[in-house]
Amino acid sequence: MPAATPARSGGSGKLRILFVTSECVPYAKTGGLGDAVAGLAKALHRLGHDVRIVLPLYSSIDYNKHNIQFKSSACIHMGGHEENWVGIHTAELEDGLEVWFVDHGRYFHRPGLYNDNGNDYSDNAYRFGLLSKAALQLCKDLKFIPDVVHLHDWQTAPTAAFLKTWDRSGSPLSNTASVLTIHNIGHQGKYHRGVMWYYGLGDEHFTPEKFEDFGGVNLLKAGIHFADAITTVSPTHAQEILQPIGGQGLESILNGRRADVSGILNGADYEFWHPNTDKLLPARYNANNLKGKAVCKEALQKRFGLDVRPNVPLFGIVTRFAQQKGCELFQGALPRALNGMAMQLVVLGTGDHVTEDFFNWLHAIYPNRAGVHIGFNNELSHLIEAGSDFFLMPSLYEPCGLNQIYSLAYGTLPIVRATGGLADTVENYDQTTGNGTGFVFNQTTPQALYDTIGWAVSTWYDRPQHYKKLQQAAMTKEFKWETSAQKYVEVYRKAIAHHQAA
Ligand code: ADP
Ligand code: GLC
Repeated sequence: MPAATPARSGGSGKLRILFVTSECVPYAKTGGLGDAVAGLAKALHRLGHDVRIVLPLYSSIDYNKHNIQFKSSACIHMGGHEENWVGIHTAELEDGLEVWFVDHGRYFHRPGLYNDNGNDYSDNAYRFGLLSKAALQLCKDLKFIPDVVHLHDWQTAPTAAFLKTWDRSGSPLSNTASVLTIHNIGHQGKYHRGVMWYYGLGDEHFTPEKFEDFGGVNLLKAGIHFADAITTVSPTHAQEILQPIGGQGLESILNGRRADVSGILNGADYEFWHPNTDKLLPARYNANNLKGKAVCKEALQKRFGLDVRPNVPLFGIVTRFAQQKGCELFQGALPRALNGMAMQLVVLGTGDHVTEDFFNWLHAIYPNRAGVHIGFNNELSHLIEAGSDFFLMPSLYEPCGLNQIYSLAYGTLPIVRATGGLADTVENYDQTTGNGTGFVFNQTTPQALYDTIGWAVSTWYDRPQHYKKLQQAAMTKEFKWETSAQKYVEVYRKAIAHHQAA
């Protein structure tokens, strides 16, 4: 190890951990990835580990609000001797937890993180390849030699490949292990093979075990090959991705790494997501005093122009409009449910245009009973969690899901399909005892969703004492990031051992 390199922390003590990510709240978020990265990084930091986060400096990030400062510049070498100069800026996510922002104008000064108006940027493999490489260069330049780099989804999976190819013997990072967390296996980063050239990786890496996939590259697949350990975000989903449908084409490579694959449930950041302290709500409440929840319900009904009726059950939806989220089930079930049941609905979401059109149509048919907001709005997502009585999440697959965890905390009973993290966090209502924390169904059909909405509505009207019991049980459930972080530390240590043995 060169004399100038700081000592590694290693051993059984505190670890040096570098997160490389495309999202992190409060700076950049399109879904749960941003919440999960920040929640886990903070929990690890509070356990005493030395954590840094590398994130692109997107133009949407508010530089002044987050007190971001210029730090230095760095030269990132890609393939073909291409040099990219980037600016490095920093901020503190919390005391002593530093974020390094990579500023590359051509790649990151754009309206969206991954796409604009639904169209993916065609150079995403280049944009995030540069980020993946830059993370390692920053470690060397800023003399932070991690024990482990923690990568998230296809965007930063290439870091694992760079570590095992460019940063072999002689590099200060030659002892650094990598962990890849798959938050969403439905997005794999599939691109043209020309990407290999930009990554500076030769044909020996363009093989079916590594990058090659149906003639192109698959960045998530390469990450699975090169990472020392692979995790996903719930124990049930870790089983699902080893099976043909759940693995979405990656099941055989994952089975090849079976001993290194595990599932760790996400936590919730209760600093932001607890009804007793949530600053974004018109009133606060807890399990012992639900008056504030009634205030939130009224505010929500007014906000969406619905009839203000405390006794009618209000169903909430907050989601990306994507096939994964069961949008086809919504389309089949909700018009019938609104037609036949005394219920109200509020929807917040954005994404595929067919689903956006569907919900606008639903609102036009039921203007006083179905409120719809197309867009991304953090404050409104909190109000929907607090003001609704039930929360709908009929996902086809759900690696973990955070909204059902938030719903439990806010005493808003989740209605979920039994998949992935939804199955791991919601306990089905037992009508004989009144036990449970929500409503769970199995089939991926509109009928199953419709029937379960009916079950929830009948519980509301006919068994109010059971509704209350479920609500109380839901509000006592806690999914703390500290618990998850301890499990990640075990995975980090296994990954370090795996890397040393290789
Ligand atoms: P996913 O990451 O697959 O989208 P999660 O349930 O894990 O699903 O996390 C979704 C996160 O994104 C939650 O914090 C949710 O509140 C937020 N979210 C999703 N859609 C919107 C929206 N339209 N406006 C505001 N927040 C949203
Ligand atoms: C993904 C998954 C979601 C998970 C989130 C954070 O976007 O779809 O289930 O909760 O990542 O890990």
